Amino acid sequence: MHTPYYTYDTALFARTVEAAIAESSRIANAHIHFAVKSNNNRDLITIAAKAGLGADCVSGAEITHCISCGIPAEKIMFAGVGKTDSEIRLALEAGVGCFNIESIPELEVINQIAASCGKVARIAIRVNPNIDAGTHAHITTGLDENKFGVSLIRALEAIQLAHNLSNTHYLGLHFHIGSQVLDMTPFAHLARFINQIQDRMEAAGITDTISINVGGGLGVDYDDPESNPIPNFKAYYQAYADNLKLRPGQELHFEFGRALSAQCGRLISRCLYVKQAVGHDIAILDAGMTELIRPALYQAHHKIINLTGRDEHRPLHTYDVVGPICESSDVFASQIRLHEMKRGDIIAILSAGAYGRTMASNYNMRPLPPEMIE
Ligand code: LLP
Repeated sequence: MHTPYYTYDTALFARTVEAAIAESSRIANAHIHFAVKSNNNRDLITIAAKAGLGADCVSGAEITHCISCGIPAEKIMFAGVGKTDSEIRLALEAGVGCFNIESIPELEVINQIAASCGKVARIAIRVNPNIDAGTHAHITTGLDENKFGVSLIRALEAIQLAHNLSNTHYLGLHFHIGSQVLDMTPFAHLARFINQIQDRMEAAGITDTISINVGGGLGVDYDDPESNPIPNFKAYYQAYADNLKLRPGQELHFEFGRALSAQCGRLISRCLYVKQAVGHDIAILDAGMTELIRPALYQAHHKIINLTGRDEHRPLHTYDVVGPICESSDVFASQIRLHEMKRGDIIAILSAGAYGRTMASNYNMRPLPPEMIE
């Protein structure tokens, strides 16, 4: 098989989806959505659809794709800070379940477009809770300095406006504090923040909130994915079960991306060269930041295995593992221990199912990597 390529373990994905559903039984009225920005592979989305999941989409193309994979439009959440007019129209025509609104101007535009197509847009207001998720700065979203959502001060105004506009129907509130969050404390903080907002809203006479969406963010074990292939959904839901006071009949929505898709994917590559540099040995792969940008962009750590060297029981040796792109940041790992590397060895980069293939680029005119199903 020509490298590099992605491979997905669909059985593991299905088990992970099942765990996310089974553990959610500790929450009354839980609704789970797959954030397909993490992975838009047709086979995976089809498995999610068959298990009854909805989808969190951030573009018109994702909406069309999810519907074609069997996700009912009414289970699709359309999020994003910059929805275009044509995407809004597409989502209205498709009948998506909810627009997650990120600003008052966006709310006004959605109302106008909905009026022009004779539709009513179901909407939730994304509120920025100013909670530090304790994750990498590039994947922190819930702080005042971030571009996402409406500040608490503006939220009541937005909710009232959504009630007054002719072609919007207010469903509830949306939040997302960040991604790759492993400590459950920020989720507990979010839950308590939501309690406070709900109190304030009720004091202001808003009593028709039927949907609370807490976004995604649950992290995975990048250090030891083989021992922990399924994230700790139990602890995650428990943070909400213990801290969130839902009003009777309210729905609680979750939008998992990484937690569902990261561990089922691997990037398979080949070692092109091993070169001895001053003070370090460098293994150069045929995959680089064009196939998996996470290490270059977020200093993310992915476990790497020399599959050929391991099969041949070769001794361990220390390497920097890099890609072929002419960028100094095109480095997968520095000074890691691997079975001795030789030209032609097959290398697996683990936990690459989330934000791997979907963030690939054709920089340097490289083709996008193909995807295989196990
Ligand atoms: N909901 C909203 C509103 C989001 O913005 C995101 C992710 C999710 C759900 C899903 O989050 P997850 O469950 O995957 O943490 N490319 C970065 C991650 C960017 C996350 C963007 N938003 C990475 O590779 O780490």
